[in-house]
Amino acid sequence: MDIPNKYSIAIEKTNNSRLNQVDFDNLKFGQIMSDHMLVAEYDDGDWQQVSIIPYQDLVISPALSSIHYGQSIFEGVKAYKFKDGTVSIFRPDQNWERFNRSAARLQMPEVPREIFLDGLKKLLQVDSSWVPDRPGTSLYIRPFMFATESALGVHPSKSYKFIIITSPVGAYYSKPLKLKVETHYTRAAEGGVGFSKNAGNYALSLYPTQLANNEGFDQLMWTDAKEHRYIEEAGTANLIFQIGNKIITPHGNTILHGITRKTIMELAESWGYETEQRKVSVQELLNGIKEGVVLDAFAAGTAATVTPISTIGYNGELFELPEVETREFSKRVLDYLNQLRYGESEDPFGWNFIV
Ligand code: PLP
Ligand code: COI
Repeated sequence: MDIPNKYSIAIEKTNNSRLNQVDFDNLKFGQIMSDHMLVAEYDDGDWQQVSIIPYQDLVISPALSSIHYGQSIFEGVKAYKFKDGTVSIFRPDQNWERFNRSAARLQMPEVPREIFLDGLKKLLQVDSSWVPDRPGTSLYIRPFMFATESALGVHPSKSYKFIIITSPVGAYYSKPLKLKVETHYTRAAEGGVGFSKNAGNYALSLYPTQLANNEGFDQLMWTDAKEHRYIEEAGTANLIFQIGNKIITPHGNTILHGITRKTIMELAESWGYETEQRKVSVQELLNGIKEGVVLDAFAAGTAATVTPISTIGYNGELFELPEVETREFSKRVLDYLNQLRYGESEDPFGWNFIV
């Protein structure tokens, strides 16, 4: 049952749908935006108008405080289409909660459930035809918020915009990943903003990632800021390893608490695996690979889904992981999640949020 909504949502539909221009058989990631977007304005200490309008450019002030001082956060969520046409969003309540944790850390206002979740549901009702139904495709949902005050002093903005845009997508990574262990640059330090999904975390990753790309790696494996000894996460996803019979993932406030990671750890537990969320040293992983006890290793994220790691580079040496075909755990996870998300199996955990 919907919670009564004190924020009424005005809907203006486009007369000019771009739907028939989309090649749903060849979707890339994040190139095409759906017809509509949700926009909410925060001012005078509360959320004001909330509306669903045709997707359009924004007019912004050159003094916009988020451009200068970076109060800007976002989420990544996916919606799937069942065979009977039902549209289902995967665990968006988790994204809403994480969004508000990011907001609090950046001194930004909370977005109420009625705007984030009920608004998202209404937006997808309007744009349900944009949710693709081919295997491996989904509608990527990007809720974001940024400061809109036009002022140059460093202080929390008085006004904000919360927007949701959506994009029909295919795979983010199309092949197993070659990751480089980063031992010089740092993504996040204790007491910082590593756990929040703010734009700056991605800006700072671009240069070190480009250096790794130049060496032939797809992505970085970030390590802790103090000693570069412990594994944190990849640039766009969390990391999960199977060492022997244990499913292990790095933990702490310097990494993003991924919803895919949480989901997979919950699944692993329910399947009877021993699970551990703890510090994982680079040496533990590399020794495990040498000894042949690392049976599986993958990146887990909304965009990345479950992407196997093929190779890890550390100080100029390459460590090869087991052939992807031999990996039972990640294959089981992917099969299970695909069936659940496309409505082909039961949803015992209540993870599907039906639109
Ligand atoms: N870590 C980073 C840096 C990410 O950008 C993402 C993607 O959202 C994740 C982890 C995985 O989080 P989630 O599974 O919630 O998408
Ligand atoms: C996501 O998986 O939703 C992300 O945010 C990763 C990346 C596209 C930034």
